[in-house]
Amino acid sequence: MSTEYVEKLIKDIDVKNVVNGDVEVVNNSPLEIIGKGRQGAVFRYTDDICIKVYGNTEDCEREHYAMYLGQKSNMFPLLYAAGDNYIVMEIVKGVDLREYLQSQPLTETLSYKLIELLITFKEVGFERIDHHKRQIYIQPDGSLKVIDVGRTIWRNRVYPYPRKLLNSLGKENKAKFLSHLKLLAPELYEEWEYYMKMEALSREIYQVLLKKKSNKDAVSVLSKKVLLTHDEQEQISQLENLVRKVFKEEWVKTMLAKGYNPDKVMEAIDKHWERAEKRSLNSKDDNKD
Ligand SMILES: Nc1ncnc2c1ncn2[C@@H]1O[C@H](COP(=O)(O)OP(=O)(O)OP(=O)(O)O)[C@@H](O)[C@H]1O
Ligand SMILES: [Mg+2]
Repeated sequence: MSTEYVEKLIKDIDVKNVVNGDVEVVNNSPLEIIGKGRQGAVFRYTDDICIKVYGNTEDCEREHYAMYLGQKSNMFPLLYAAGDNYIVMEIVKGVDLREYLQSQPLTETLSYKLIELLITFKEVGFERIDHHKRQIYIQPDGSLKVIDVGRTIWRNRVYPYPRKLLNSLGKENKAKFLSHLKLLAPELYEEWEYYMKMEALSREIYQVLLKKKSNKDAVSVLSKKVLLTHDEQEQISQLENLVRKVFKEEWVKTMLAKGYNPDKVMEAIDKHWERAEKRSLNSKDDNKD
């Protein structure tokens, strides 16, 4: 495989990220597109090699790093080369788990392989031990391989159990997988069950809080009636009181720091406000005349 040739081909492919959607692709290269997602588009290079072209270099770098970690195991596509916005890798053959489970049952052997896969994720150093079933492929020889590992090493939210995998299995297969797990790895089952219970409880609490919304409306009406001051004159006088209070506190602090007696200072301030008030009343009366 010539990297130079790959680079030349990539120049004729434009991949742009789209908010909440799959990437937009303008392909002027002779390569056939075999799939796309939110992060990139995948092109067939040979029968066994494909090139994933990314919408941004950060996603490419992360997936490259995750794939590099995964090379210790045979559960990841072989990594051939990478550039700023592309990765050249093995084409994963077989059927993805979503497709497979449409017609085949989730056997104990398959559950065992899935647990093995999660253990491998941890062993190679991934932070996120989880994967959607459509990113897991069953090879013709029965072994598993995963694609799209970019989000395994970085995620703003990491669940302490493989939530995505379990939920993607659907209700029936999730129950089946958990019953297999209980037999094959009881301690792990207990740990995951604990987190699932916490999650279910959190969901229930959320519903309770949501129902209390009517109370929020009531508080809003009451606060308008009782707590809010609608009279402008009243607001001004309250503001004045507040300014005086703050001024007094700050002034006392300053004078205290300078060694004055705080009681004397407070007395002096009160007298000063009194005088100022009288002056202001007199001038109001003068203006009336
Ligand atoms: N190594 C591979 N071998 C075979 N097909 C692949 C390979 N990598 C990707 N594909 C195909 O291309 C599609 C898109 O790839 P991928 O899921 O890696 O893209 P993505 O943009 O990272 O997706 P997501 O939006 O889920 O992050 C896959 O669903 C699959 O059909
Ligand atoms: Mg991805």
